[in-house]
Amino acid sequence: MARRKLVAGNWKMNGLATDLAEVAAIVAAARDVATDVALCLPATLIERAASAVPGFTVGGQDVHAADKGAHTGCVSAVMLLDAGARLTIVGHSERRLGQGEGDADIKAKAEAALAAGLDVILCVGESDAEREAGRAVATVCAQLDASLPSCDGVNLAVAYEPIWAIGTGKIPSIDDIGEMHAALRGRLVAAYGEAGDAVRLLYGGSVKPSNAAEIFAVPDVDGALVGGASLKAADFLPIVEAAASR
Ligand code: 13P
Repeated sequence: MARRKLVAGNWKMNGLATDLAEVAAIVAAARDVATDVALCLPATLIERAASAVPGFTVGGQDVHAADKGAHTGCVSAVMLLDAGARLTIVGHSERRLGQGEGDADIKAKAEAALAAGLDVILCVGESDAEREAGRAVATVCAQLDASLPSCDGVNLAVAYEPIWAIGTGKIPSIDDIGEMHAALRGRLVAAYGEAGDAVRLLYGGSVKPSNAAEIFAVPDVDGALVGGASLKAADFLPIVEAAASR
């Protein structure tokens, strides 16, 4: 099935008001490209960015599973939507590892985000040790099975992000990316039937202008989740263009 590509930037804990000019530059250049583009910004910038670039998809990076309540420091899906976000990442490895989030937490977050009306990018990925042990596909498929939201599969994307590839400049071989995405597609179809075939499968981890084209050429790679290279328009736009030219 032909799926329109999605290139999403994940700014992580980066970005101040002075960086809104970079958001504007990305949006201006990405407006007419034949691919979907989004920026997942720190919560502090979402409202200002969403007001400055109406119609562009601004996202969050995490949500709490509850709508409101005594959860100091957390942001709910309803709050993100209220601030102008249209999507959110859940299950990033920096939250799975850094904040101790498990598959059940991530499933609940994804369900809360979808229920609130946000699109969701659900992240999965293996550690270096798991890949070395030959358990990458089994590990990531099990992670996906346990964190997939109970839903119709619409408004959901999945990002395969090997932990060892994030911020390191290393990426899996093209064959390994293809093997993983084919396996994940199988799990999505098992979970959602035909709708699972329409779920976009993004690759994330050291995506750069220099490797984007070969990654986007892999079957079942429907876009990218980009960290460091999404912070500057000069790095991010060639990645967007590589997706648009597939
Ligand atoms: P890098 O592109 O900086 O490797 O980060 C990937 C990532 O974690 C996106 O969510």
